[in-house]
Amino acid sequence: MNIISINRKIKAILIRLRIHRWLGFIENIFLNASYMIRLSRWVDTNRQILIYDDFYNAQPKHGERFQLYKQILDTYTLNEENITYLEFGVASGTSMRWWTDHNIAPSSNFWGFDTFEGLPERYGSLKQGVFNMKGQFPEISDERIHFVKGLFQDTLLENIKFINFSDRVILHIDSDLFTAALYVLTTLFPYLKKGDLILFDEFGVPGHEFRAFVGFVDSFYLKLKPIGAINNYLQVIFEITEINSNRIK
Ligand SMILES: C[S@@+](CC[C@H](N)C(=O)[O-])C[C@H]1O[C@@H](n2cnc3c(N)ncnc32)[C@H](O)[C@@H]1O
Repeated sequence: MNIISINRKIKAILIRLRIHRWLGFIENIFLNASYMIRLSRWVDTNRQILIYDDFYNAQPKHGERFQLYKQILDTYTLNEENITYLEFGVASGTSMRWWTDHNIAPSSNFWGFDTFEGLPERYGSLKQGVFNMKGQFPEISDERIHFVKGLFQDTLLENIKFINFSDRVILHIDSDLFTAALYVLTTLFPYLKKGDLILFDEFGVPGHEFRAFVGFVDSFYLKLKPIGAINNYLQVIFEITEINSNRIK
């Protein structure tokens, strides 16, 4: 018997034994451990490239993400450039407000996608429904904003034709969940171009946004250039510096 048949036999035995019934409790531990190892490797390989990095920060604070945004705004002189800012995960609109306050170009477009009824799934210790805004959009008086209510999985495709992808896109993934991040990245990929920026709010969470990032770049044979990170790699921003050819123009 060769190694392939031994492998197949073992798998068949494990399925017959219903392995999930007696080892299911370690499933997430193993998954997170595997992505934690990859995250550590990613940091080791990429930290020299970063132009902004606060590692090791003994007191990370979520509010410090605005320092990273400011660095990016200054590095790319984005304050007066026409941009298309796409935010996935808006909740009360804290980050949306920051970007609309700091980009003053009248022709910029800001899109905010969210259920506005909270997380559609459990996220670590956060239960489904956390961040529930009772269906209400944040009160930000800026006519450049379009809010879209519903699951990304239901709303993104029908709105994609209205999004201006010719200006620089800033794609902000702040939806916490693996499923949401992977869906958005893979759906928008054909529309993205060189010079666009992708910002992750929970990059440093191994089993969620980082796992989606790995699945995305591996599946599309894509290289994204990391530009800056804050809060020990919780928030990380990338620039698309090279793209392959088979994409929607
Ligand atoms: C961390 S909050 C966003 C925080 C916000 N950007 C801020 O700066 O305060 C995450 C949001 O993602 C939304 N979300 C997660 N997965 C989603 C999905 N698949 N479709 C729509 N909204 C989703 C949740 O409803 C929640 O409001």
